[in-house]
Amino acid sequence: MAASGVIVFGFIVVHILGNLQLFAGPEALNRYAAFLQGLGPLKWAVRALLAASAAVHIVTAVQLTVQNWQARPRRYATIRYRATDYAARTMWIGGPIIGLFVIWHLLHLTTGHCHPAGQFAADSNGIINVYNSVVIGFMDPAAAAVYILAMLLVGLHLYHGLWSMMQSIGLNHPGWNHWRRWFAVLFAAFVALAGISLPVAVLTGFVTPA
Ligand code: HEM
Repeated sequence: MAASGVIVFGFIVVHILGNLQLFAGPEALNRYAAFLQGLGPLKWAVRALLAASAAVHIVTAVQLTVQNWQARPRRYATIRYRATDYAARTMWIGGPIIGLFVIWHLLHLTTGHCHPAGQFAADSNGIINVYNSVVIGFMDPAAAAVYILAMLLVGLHLYHGLWSMMQSIGLNHPGWNHWRRWFAVLFAAFVALAGISLPVAVLTGFVTPA
């Protein structure tokens, strides 16, 4: 779970930081998107690695959940959470919602099937106006709300994932756990807020179509 999680979340962190170029204007974001599209076979290799990692992550998550249920077939009469916390308890519902979000997100901003502007066409230089696709997409408050909710769930998932991953690699010591928790909180909050800043910037009129 930890290895596949690192790959998937590594992509999300780079993806969100890359999309912050929305604030630098259409040329910067469209150039970045055209660069990624131009990577050819490397792009497909990364996509394959990402799809395989996501599949491994989902399968191991289901196995872990089933093992946990089998370890305690009868529910506790009273549940008192100790080592676990809110993020940990919501992983099993957050994960599938993030999965559904990704499917809709691909239809929204990659293929354009669920986008008000329809499927995206390239200009005479072969460049797709990704900047306008994102901005016009976020001008719909319902779509913007979906992104904000998804980024909150991604933040929660990332927080718990980071915390557990550090435990898996042995970074678990009563003296450090305080710092481990703060690192996970700050990193996850930064990524979530960076993602949320994009739809909020469009909804407030700070970023407008080119
Ligand atoms: C506000 C947040 C986000 C923005 C603005 C955004 C923007 C975009 C855009 C513009 C594309 C299409 C790129 C292109 O075709 O050139 C894209 C693709 C993609 N996004 Fe996002 N995204 C966001 C959040 C997320 C999240 C949270 C995830 C995963 C949980 C995600 C996963 C993906 C994937 C898997 C692709 C397809 C990449 C590929 O074509 O290989 N995105 N995103």
